[in-house]
Amino acid sequence: MSQIRGRFKKETSKLAEAYTASVQFDKRLYPYDIAGSIVHARMMAKQGIVTEPEARTIVDGLNSIKEEIEQGKFKFKPELEDIHMNIESRLIEKVGEVGGKLHTARSRNDQIALDLRLFTRDAIAGAIKGIRGLQNALITLAETNKGTVIPGYTHLQRAQPVLLAHHMLAYFEMLERDIHRFRCCRQRTDILPLGSGALAGVSYEIDREFLAKELGFDRISENSLDAVSDRDFLLEYEAAASICMMHLSRLAEEIVLWSSVEFGFIELDDAYATGSSIMPQKKNPDVAELARGKTGRVYGNLMALLTTMKGLPLSYNRDMQEDKEGFFDTVDTLLASLEIMAGMMSTVHIKAENTAQAVQQGYLLATDLADYLVKKAEPFRNAHDIVARLVSYASGQDKTLDMLSLEAYKQFSPLFEEDVYSITVESSLAARDNIGGTAPKRVEQALANARKTLEESPA
Ligand code: ARG
Repeated sequence: MSQIRGRFKKETSKLAEAYTASVQFDKRLYPYDIAGSIVHARMMAKQGIVTEPEARTIVDGLNSIKEEIEQGKFKFKPELEDIHMNIESRLIEKVGEVGGKLHTARSRNDQIALDLRLFTRDAIAGAIKGIRGLQNALITLAETNKGTVIPGYTHLQRAQPVLLAHHMLAYFEMLERDIHRFRCCRQRTDILPLGSGALAGVSYEIDREFLAKELGFDRISENSLDAVSDRDFLLEYEAAASICMMHLSRLAEEIVLWSSVEFGFIELDDAYATGSSIMPQKKNPDVAELARGKTGRVYGNLMALLTTMKGLPLSYNRDMQEDKEGFFDTVDTLLASLEIMAGMMSTVHIKAENTAQAVQQGYLLATDLADYLVKKAEPFRNAHDIVARLVSYASGQDKTLDMLSLEAYKQFSPLFEEDVYSITVESSLAARDNIGGTAPKRVEQALANARKTLEESPA
């Protein structure tokens, strides 16, 4: 039974009670709720809004409630709606009337905004740590397979040879941008909303600087109406998480492809693969498929919250209670996906014989052959055409380019000489010697830079 029914003549219907309750999911905010309340009580004592002994009683009561929750002894009551009312009601039960002073100079509206910001700050730190873990796994894989060459693809057609390390470094870059997005999101999360009251501010002489400093906030919100109804920081987290999951889904898709018999580039560690209940030969990449699949729910959570917030008038509206379940799901899904992808990538086995064979097929050196003619003064467009015809001829004979005789080459252009045979996978890689290219020495440098980033900026 809620204690805020003074003006009502009837109890809430059971249906309404169940429909409006949020404690079943917002209970996970308890450490943040209690931390915020403790600082609020201390601030009130400092400002003479409550006495020092009253604040001490409140703080001790809150600490012991925290223990009760952590020991599983706390009884969450849906009829008390949310985590805030559950804790406050228990506080009054434990310390008596003075517990009722905690809610002076604040409202559940600035309280929930505070709890969510504190929670999100930790969730951002968790996301960045998780991303760093995956980056580390990718860089380690690249470092331990430095010499491995794979076909690079466009349109999922073999295109040009690239180092496996170069491919892994591409994901490192994507994840680096994800970290940047989470850091930007932190700037707009790290703002104290407490002191905004229900919507208009509070009529007590509170000290918001003190609250901000004690709770470790960078800044203080500038407008009370905005502060109680701003959920941009959740949206930004969900947007950053969606983009990050999109990146994971691309990596996951490549793992699915690469572990197939058709590609055969990798073998998943048994610990990260699953069997089929009917086909004994199967080793399935379910972890990667689920990371790919869970991307959908993370996008869904973002769309749901955008839609919930759309068109809401100022300031707080109860619709906003719907922000939590999707957000928590996104936080949990992202962290779990990052962690498992890191585990999977750090145990994956590269089948170097197969990758080596794959780069020999598919005419990956055709561009290099065209470049060869260009160096002998053939305009690139003509060179492209000559090599296209040459490739078509070779493929008709079921031959790779290095199997063709010099006479055969010369039928297509008199510019071909004996040195055409010095075009190899190695020469092709080495030629891509510009910033961002796949030349081994560039990749070596990029790997060193990535390592340095991981060491110097762990989170
Ligand atoms: N459970 C509510 C939420 O999550 C807390 C704020 C309630 N405020 C209110 N005026 N009913 O949004």
